Parts: sequence; C-alpha cells; structure tokens
Amino acid sequence: MEQRHVILDCDPGIDDSLAIMLALSSPELLVEGITVVCGNCPAEMGAGNARKVLRHLGRLDVPVFQGEERPLRREYVSALDTHGADGLGESFLPPADGPVQELGAVEFMARTIRARSEDGSGCSVIALGPMTNLARLIQRDPEAFSMIREIVSMGGNFRSHGNCSPVAEYNYWADPDAAALVYETAAALGKKIVMVGLDVTRQIVLTPDLLAYMKRLQPETGQFVQAITKFYYDFHWEWEHLIGCVINDPLAVAYFLDRSLCSGFEAYTAVETRGISIGQTVVDSMGFWKKPANALVLTHTDVLGFFRLFLSRILGRREEELDLLEQLISDRKKDENR
Ligand code: RIB
Ligand code: CA
Repeated sequence: MEQRHVILDCDPGIDDSLAIMLALSSPELLVEGITVVCGNCPAEMGAGNARKVLRHLGRLDVPVFQGEERPLRREYVSALDTHGADGLGESFLPPADGPVQELGAVEFMARTIRARSEDGSGCSVIALGPMTNLARLIQRDPEAFSMIREIVSMGGNFRSHGNCSPVAEYNYWADPDAAALVYETAAALGKKIVMVGLDVTRQIVLTPDLLAYMKRLQPETGQFVQAITKFYYDFHWEWEHLIGCVINDPLAVAYFLDRSLCSGFEAYTAVETRGISIGQTVVDSMGFWKKPANALVLTHTDVLGFFRLFLSRILGRREEELDLLEQLISDRKKDENR
C-alpha cells in the first residue's frame, strides 16, 4: 500500500490527542511530523502533550516541532478552560523524555513539503488547531505552501452555531487573520480547503457507554482515553448539558482516511476578521459573489462509520469484532430524540 505523507498541525489538546492516536494507528499514513501551534494551550505545553501521547503509543520516533506562540494579530486566547490546566484533561501525565525538535514548525513544514514535492510523494496537512503556522508558511515560503497536496482543516461552521461566539468556531476565532489568509490564498491558487466544521464534528460524541466499551476491548488504551477525557466530560455536562464529549479533531483524520465518511458541497468561503462575528466562516453556498470555490464544506457524516474506523484503529481490533457498536450508537440516537 502506498502511504500518504502527512503533517499533523495541532494544538493538543484532548481531541487533538485522539486524532494523533488515530493517525498513528493507520498504516495508510506516513506521519512526517507533528507541528504544534498555540491554541487550546500554549505551543510549548502542546508540544509536551504531543510527546506524552507519542510515548503512550510507543512512537517517540515521530518528531514534534513547536510553532507559533501567538496569533497573527489578535491576543492569544487559550481553551484551557475546556482542556484543563495541563491541556490534557488534567491527567497530569509525567513529561515524556527527550527534547522537542530545535527546528521550528514552519521551517519543518517548508522543508518537508518541498522535499516530498521533489520526490513525487507529495505531503498533505491535517490542520487541527488555529491556522497560524500555515499562515506563517504562506508569508515566509508561499511556494512551499502552494506545494501542499491537500489541507484538511478541523474548523469553521456552516449552519451549526459557534462554540466561541454565536457564529464562530474556536480554531478560526482564535486566529481569524490566519484562517482568512489561508482561505484567500487557497482561492488564489485554485485550491480547496476541506472544512471539517462543527456541522459534522458535533455529531461525534464519545459517550460513557462507548468509553466503557473501549476499556473492555482494550483496557490500556481505554484507560488512557478516560484519563485525558474526564475533564472534557465534566465541561460538556456543565456547558452543554451533554453526557459525553464532542471529539472534533479525529473526524478530520478519519475523513482524510475514508472520504465516504462525510459529504458536503464546494463553495467560496471567507473568514471574518473583525467585529462581533469575528472568526465566522462566511460560506457563499448560493454563489452570490460568483467566486470559484476555495472550500469543500462538509455537512453530513456517518457517525457509526466514524466510530467503526476510530475504535478499530486505536484499539487494534477488526471492525467485525466491534459487535456492540451499532447498538451503542443507536441507543444514543434514541436518547437524543427523547
Ligand atoms: O472548535 C474545536 C476545535 O478547537 C478543536 O480542534 C479543538 O481541539 C480546538 O482546537
Ligand atoms: Ca484542536
């Protein structure tokens, strides 16, 4: 099988950590490295958290690169209230041995994207945090940015309400200027950003039943997931009266692996950088502006299909072994409709 080369650009972060687990449990992907950006937590903390996850996976061979420590223009606003004081659900795991790479994230991106373009492999970026590293890449090496094979971004929203304001999703709200520059540059290059927004990720809820099932199937991984998500459960109960936690980022990796998991439409999309709707993705679904599409906006997802892929990969089980999964997913749907 020919592996697809990918950089995970993230802000770990609880759901970023689950996304890293999925990516590194999927043989179709060759993860060239993990670049960390300020977002859920400061970049230095995020880089340390990425290495804690890599240690759990026995993959400290994957290099981690620390990136931008503040947004392009706005003040940096973390999401530690959601991800805990340590950025990893207050699991307070001991630091992983060894240093984070000396090379900066943006320089690593430029060098790797160029090298994979020259050897014909190509390299994509799965962006799971604010797009500050990608924006800095555009500013410092626009040619390298143009060589990126595909950008799949967890961020934004079409019809779903925001999670940082009535209209804005955190990754694009935290650095709207970066998101706007990435979408504008994609438009200029005739490229389309795959927008894995809240319209689809809100449907991906890790419930207590699913977590219990994971622990039965693979105790060590189940315990690790429980350790880093407990704080997230409490947050979701307190703020959204939800029993479970929305795990946004793994869906971006899952979609990169299996395009049948989500569907949507192509449209020109811009990001608001000022005013009360700052960070909002303005999706021209009706073509008012008559501009070529620069985004594939995902609106529907196969929840059962996602969990089949996610659990089978991170638990190391064949999909046919996940005999209770369908029941657990349909039970949640019934609860929702009550
Ligand atoms: O809005 C959800 C996104 O913001 C996720 O990527 C989460 O990790 C945070 O970065
Ligand atoms: Ca994230």
